[in-house]
Amino acid sequence: MVTPPEEALRIALASILLKDGSDDEGVVDGIDGDIVSYLAGMLHESGLEDINDSIGPFLEGYGCDVALIEACGTAVMRCAKNGNRGESLNASKNGSNIGSDNGSYEAQSGAMKLKQGIVSLSSVLTDQSEAEIDANRYMWGQENKIAAMTNQTRDAHDSTVSSKDKRKSRKELEAARREYEEKMAIFQAEEDGGAGKASVSNMIIPDYRSGRNEKDIHVRNVSLSLDNGTPLLTDGELKFSHRRRYGLARSDVPRLILDDVSPHSIVFPTVGKNGVGKTTLLKAIAAFEVENMPRHHRILHVRQEIQAAGGDISVLQAVIDADVERNTLIEEEKKLLKRLEGDGIKTDDEVSMKAKLDKLKALSANDADATFNADIKRLDEVYERLQILGADAAESRAGMILTGLQFTPSMQNGPTSALSGGWRMRVALAAALFIEPDLLMLDEPTNHLDLEAVLWLESYMQSYRHTLIVVSHDRSFLNEVCTDTIEFKNKTLTYYKGDYDTYVRTSEENVKNLMRVYQAYMDKRAHMMEFIDKFRASANRAKLVQSRIKAVEKMDLEAPEPVVVEQLWRFSIPNPEPLGRPIISIDDVWFDYTVVDEVSGFKKPKEEWILQQVNFGVDLDSRIGILGPNGAGKSTLLNLIMDRLKPIKGSISRNGNLRIGHFTQHSADKFNLHLSAVENMLNLFSGSEDQIMRSFLGKFQIQGTDALKPMMMLSGGQKSRVAFASLAYQKPHVIIMDEPTNHLDMESIDALVDAVKDFRGGLMVVSHDQHFITHTCKELWVVGGGKVNRFRGDFNDYKKETLQRTAKRVADSVKSLSTINN
Ligand SMILES: Nc1ncnc2c1ncn2[C@@H]1O[C@H](COP(=O)(O)OP(=O)(O)O)[C@@H](O)[C@H]1O
Ligand SMILES: [Mg+2]
Repeated sequence: MVTPPEEALRIALASILLKDGSDDEGVVDGIDGDIVSYLAGMLHESGLEDINDSIGPFLEGYGCDVALIEACGTAVMRCAKNGNRGESLNASKNGSNIGSDNGSYEAQSGAMKLKQGIVSLSSVLTDQSEAEIDANRYMWGQENKIAAMTNQTRDAHDSTVSSKDKRKSRKELEAARREYEEKMAIFQAEEDGGAGKASVSNMIIPDYRSGRNEKDIHVRNVSLSLDNGTPLLTDGELKFSHRRRYGLARSDVPRLILDDVSPHSIVFPTVGKNGVGKTTLLKAIAAFEVENMPRHHRILHVRQEIQAAGGDISVLQAVIDADVERNTLIEEEKKLLKRLEGDGIKTDDEVSMKAKLDKLKALSANDADATFNADIKRLDEVYERLQILGADAAESRAGMILTGLQFTPSMQNGPTSALSGGWRMRVALAAALFIEPDLLMLDEPTNHLDLEAVLWLESYMQSYRHTLIVVSHDRSFLNEVCTDTIEFKNKTLTYYKGDYDTYVRTSEENVKNLMRVYQAYMDKRAHMMEFIDKFRASANRAKLVQSRIKAVEKMDLEAPEPVVVEQLWRFSIPNPEPLGRPIISIDDVWFDYTVVDEVSGFKKPKEEWILQQVNFGVDLDSRIGILGPNGAGKSTLLNLIMDRLKPIKGSISRNGNLRIGHFTQHSADKFNLHLSAVENMLNLFSGSEDQIMRSFLGKFQIQGTDALKPMMMLSGGQKSRVAFASLAYQKPHVIIMDEPTNHLDMESIDALVDAVKDFRGGLMVVSHDQHFITHTCKELWVVGGGKVNRFRGDFNDYKKETLQRTAKRVADSVKSLSTINN
């Protein structure tokens, strides 16, 4: 279908939507000439195929009824059919003449589509094809005015809102969406940049020709922006001192200005956990894209989201091969030796680097050939570099790191391709540690690790011989590892001495000081103004008053900024009514996913069962932390308790009235992002009412338009809050959490910890977040070797024990590798 010129479309729409003879007064409140022009432009741009997707919801948002919208569709179709002959001017206003329009198929189907489109905006959005996603992106995503309409659509029935308020919230939504778009662009750039590249081998080989060897990195006036021009960092300073370990604090904590909390105030949306550009910054550093960055450093950036390179080579070999510089040097050594041997000198393969070189050097003394001497000199450099890289002990070092990250010997010798995603990410991490770059940058390293691996990594990083930057939401990890903290906020980097907790204290102290300064200024000013007001009319004090006025003016010029305070957000989970015991009781439970003999169930060797003979109970006052390495069966145990798996032998009984709340790292992902928070909650808990959900969500600071706009427009933190709301809404007796913290930001973790602490019901948590475990649990149970045993001791004891166990395994692996080699 040929799309008519914009002006023709405008005339067609105006004939329906504007009052006769007026360009500004619409048949419906809020619609005017501008809006009509806008709609025409939109149709002209997007074509008439998806007319239902474009103008239907838009018009519905203004409260247009079905007949009116149909009439618009008819007018537009007629205009398209009649070409540019201007006959559209005759379009009927009541839209009832579709049938009489000579049975125009196009016109009819267009109008039908339009009609369907407006029956339920939600249903249109639920099932999406690729094209629809595009169309919706257009709808929610690109045009500011449409975002405003989104808001209006949701508020269409809210007739109490004045048009001034509507305009205001429209503006706010526009701002929020622009912000969202920007953040989305950053996020997308980060995703695109990382896709497909194996993080193991992307180190750029340093350039040593400058002869510089200072180990600190200091670059001034660093500015970074995205391809689309959005600035991330302006005039920043990179200041990384040798052997210090920097935590990069997330800076996308939602903020509210305390003295101006309006119901419409928008908590700025950010996308995902990398919304401010931390990953982009680290990647730019690693790629030497930062201007004036010295080129002689080995720099590596490891993102845990990226899949490591895999293949048929063993895990151990993959890690060793990851050091591109080392490989290049070894290649060069081979080439040089071959060339030198071509000159008639034999160097034995078994002999050490030094012996080879000595032999060659002795010969070169007698030889005048310039290239020969140059080769010898280069070989000398190659060996020196290899020495620094510790190339000799490569294998045992790689083995040690892999063991620390909980790879068993058979996993180390098996192919990388046999590993699951999570373990491949560990290979990437192992490779980075093996390469031991001068500047190592880790992006959320703990996300895919179990607690035992986190603990080992923590202790390993504490004695890292070079410089480290780590982005993490794991408070304990940051506290244990970091010597410094960098705050990335408002496009600047600010450096703090000390670990994460120290940073929090220092920045709180700073804010308090600023508040004091501001308050002192306000008090002094008020005092002076009082004097001025009192004696303004008094003639014999005119001079004094004048000088006071001058003083106030001067003060105002140098006035401190009013202080913006980060408001801590907290929520609570309602306490459940009492229940008769036992709440949950697990008696002699055996479980495995595959049982050889269904009847007897015991053909499988005992040691191969995931869980055997488990006895365990949960009460309303249980606070249980479930520990144990990856694959031990922790999630399996939780699933048995929640009746998602049935025991093969033994029994699990639950109180008949028991409500279990389940929260995992994926809880915030289960929502339909095209629906609003209110709609999602209503889908989860049928029988409730719109208004009740709105006020309930309000307690989770999902207020006003935030509760009504599609959830894709909410920040990651806000989505977590909706997940918290759905957890609290069911008033659980027992909360079961499986790795709750992975995709939460610090503030959300803190809020969840506090809520769970105050909750007077049962709790079971699997987490690799030490802060979370130690602050919410009273008892620890360890899953491993088929058993579930209560741990006698506190978390620190467990940590000590685990570290010792890992250290022993590491020592054993080094020993076994050296026996193989000798
Ligand atoms: N649905 C399943 N089917 C078959 N095996 C499974 C299934 N889920 C988990 N497993 C296996 O059971 C073991 C325990 O898994 P899981 O309970 O997820 O451990 P954890 O939560 O402690 O990491 C692992 O070896 C895992 O591969
Ligand atoms: Mg698990």
